[in-house]
Amino acid sequence: MAYCPAKHIFFFTIVILIAPGMITPAFSSGKSGRENPVYVGSSTCRHCHEAEYGKFMTYAKKSRSFESVEKMKKGLTEDEIKRCFSCHTTGYGKPGGFVSAEKTPQLKNAGCEVCHGPGEFHVKTKKPGDIKRRMTLEDCEKCHTSERVRAFRFKPLIHGGAH
Ligand code: HEC
Ligand code: HEC
Ligand code: HEC
Ligand code: HEC
Repeated sequence: MAYCPAKHIFFFTIVILIAPGMITPAFSSGKSGRENPVYVGSSTCRHCHEAEYGKFMTYAKKSRSFESVEKMKKGLTEDEIKRCFSCHTTGYGKPGGFVSAEKTPQLKNAGCEVCHGPGEFHVKTKKPGDIKRRMTLEDCEKCHTSERVRAFRFKPLIHGGAH
């Protein structure tokens, strides 16, 4: 059969149009084409939770936790500074989490999502079921020492560090 450019283009187009549609559902949860939600940053939550956002920004030291690292970084090596990020930023080392102050400025402080988990799906669906509400001591102990967590006591602590 003679070479037919039109047919060639036809098949090429099919591949481009169909392939992503065929691949996506395999990885998709039906919400974003991803299995797990990514971090969106506290300012995204503000649109719908103005009250919590306002209190958090005013009272929680978390909302300024990157400054604590900046203040103390003199004399530290790059690697030592990176170790601070796992607690002082949002989602460092996790998919869609903090990378650097330049690349992911919206995640540079420890924000809403260090407690509530990555918010991407919830922001899209607005469903309560797509965000974490109930927390346990273990959630806090990822960053706070258990002695400190107990010293604060759980209940007042939870609201002290939140909103
Ligand atoms: C587009 C609007 C919207 C955005 C943006 C949004 N939310 Fe929500 N959120 C809602 C709605 C609507 C509810 C349900 C309110 C209700 O049931 O009273 C809700 C409920 C919640 C709840 C309670 C869940 C429960 O089980 O009761 C939490 C916690 C929450 N949001 C956290 C967040 C966080 C953290 C962010 C940012 C990552 C965020 N939301 C961004 C709309 C939004
Ligand atoms: C990703 C790490 C991380 C997690 C998880 C975390 N915190 Fe924190 N929290 C911090 C950091 C960092 C600070 C200190 C910020 C600073 O001063 O620079 C802080 C500060 C606090 C404070 C000090 C009071 C203030 O002014 O903010 C309280 C209380 C607190 N957190 C409670 C909690 C509770 C309760 C939980 C669990 C529900 C929790 N935190 C989970 C990182 C975390
Ligand atoms: C394992 C988690 C974790 C790591 C890693 C970590 N921090 Fe913290 N940091 C915290 C928590 C939690 C607090 C709040 C302590 C409290 O109030 O109980 C805090 C508080 C601080 C404060 C005190 C802020 C204030 O208002 O008193 C400074 C400064 C600070 N961290 C700097 C750093 C630096 C710099 C690094 C890296 C060398 C670092 N942190 C690594 C969890 C961590
Ligand atoms: C230190 C952990 C922590 C942080 C940070 C945090 N929250 Fe929460 N949040 C909680 C806890 C714990 C509850 C559940 C209170 C309950 O159900 O008793 C909660 C409840 C909520 C609720 C449900 C309504 C309510 O007030 O009970 C919303 C909405 C919410 N948070 C939004 C946010 C937003 C927006 C941010 C950031 C601006 C944020 N949270 C930061 C711990 C946190």
